[in-house]
Amino acid sequence: MNVYDSERMAEVLAPLGYVHADTPDDADMVILNTCHIREKAAEKVYSELGRLRDMRQKRLDRGHGRMVLAVTGCVAQAEGEEMLARAPYVDMVFGPQTYHRLPEMIARAQRAGGRVLDTEFPLESKFDELPAARKVDGASAFLTVQEGCDKFCTYCVVPYTRGAEVSRPANAVLSEARELASAGASEITLIGQNVNAYHGAGDDGETINLASLISSVAEIETVSRIRYTTSYPAEIDAALIAAHRDIEKLMPYMHLPVQSGSDRILKAMNRRHDRAEYLKLVDDVRAARPDIALSSDFIVGFPGETDADFEDTFNLARDVGFVQAYSFKFSARPGTPAAMMDFQVEEQVKSERLERLQQLLNSQTKAYNEASVGKTYAVLFDRVGKKPGQLIGRNAYMQPVVVEADADMMYQTANVDITHGFAYSLGGTLALGESTGTRISA
Ligand code: 5AD
Ligand code: SF4
Repeated sequence: MNVYDSERMAEVLAPLGYVHADTPDDADMVILNTCHIREKAAEKVYSELGRLRDMRQKRLDRGHGRMVLAVTGCVAQAEGEEMLARAPYVDMVFGPQTYHRLPEMIARAQRAGGRVLDTEFPLESKFDELPAARKVDGASAFLTVQEGCDKFCTYCVVPYTRGAEVSRPANAVLSEARELASAGASEITLIGQNVNAYHGAGDDGETINLASLISSVAEIETVSRIRYTTSYPAEIDAALIAAHRDIEKLMPYMHLPVQSGSDRILKAMNRRHDRAEYLKLVDDVRAARPDIALSSDFIVGFPGETDADFEDTFNLARDVGFVQAYSFKFSARPGTPAAMMDFQVEEQVKSERLERLQQLLNSQTKAYNEASVGKTYAVLFDRVGKKPGQLIGRNAYMQPVVVEADADMMYQTANVDITHGFAYSLGGTLALGESTGTRISA
């Protein structure tokens, strides 16, 4: 979502004459878009800010103007005033809900001594104030359909930094999707902290769910791939599962964070599903779309997690077989209930559990990649490879595929015969014949 927000900020700034600088060294303004989800990400902000302060000084020494330094995103939202005090050289601190006000903030920051703090949750929605025209860099675009979260998992800062759950009206989402399509996006990923909780207003006062939103986006002819992320397991409904069976443009991939495989820990996390419900969901999704690729998030070392709890998590991961996963050590976040819980797990134990789990998850990804050899996949190319003449794209299952191909294939979809399965990617050769679009052709 930070990627999406940064793109939108660039669009707000374009009418003021701002363009992207290649590097921050000589930029008139640098906006650091930050993440507060774990301590490591949040702490990085200050080391990055220190570097930018030095760059600003060097630029002044070269006789160039003073760089405006701004911080946004969830660390800005969470720390606000505290950040202005801890980094007195920062000019602007603003949260993720106020960036439509950037022109006015910049004007204020440029006045002598004018430092700006804006961490409000304004009544107006930023989406109504942002420019309607969208730019797309490549063939794939993010589209925020829903923001915020009311789930209050006990470890998570999102409900505090991104605010309560809000869905954009369906029509606003669809006009933006059409904008993105005409700007060149053939793949659109609908995003939200809790994207499957989407319940946007329709035109006639009805409520539109994610499945029907997806089916409307699928009507845009030039959009060939639709994805969505991130889902909350307890809120996956039958309509969304059916969409995976019925909507050809909806890619067979689902990111479904489970966090833990232990019922005791899931309860302490305030996740609203237990292990059995999660496994049942996986079965239902696979019944609707047998080839679906599942990915997940895991937290190890949540307060009170015993060896037996961790084994439950390990076994769940082993039994489900995720094609891709993100796993983290529990990070105590200020203001969250879990940070204050008894029985915090020792760092050493967290590290050991993480390593064991990651070994398993990596081996599953590798096995999945190896099993792809011999298949032919439609691949949407979206970046150049490390070696000259190479392009990299993704297949429907999100596996990166490296191929030797002409540069003019960039942003196109073509069939690729898979010849190699590596730890994190596939290798292949262009298949003869027409691309079949989004599904496996053979
Ligand atoms: N500590 C560790 N991981 C966390 N996540 C969220 N909050 C924390 C935390 N306090 C992870 C969850 C979530 C992902 C985005 O980040 O796994 O799904
Ligand atoms: Fe955080 Fe996701 Fe839980 Fe919401 S559902 S509180 S965003 S982990």
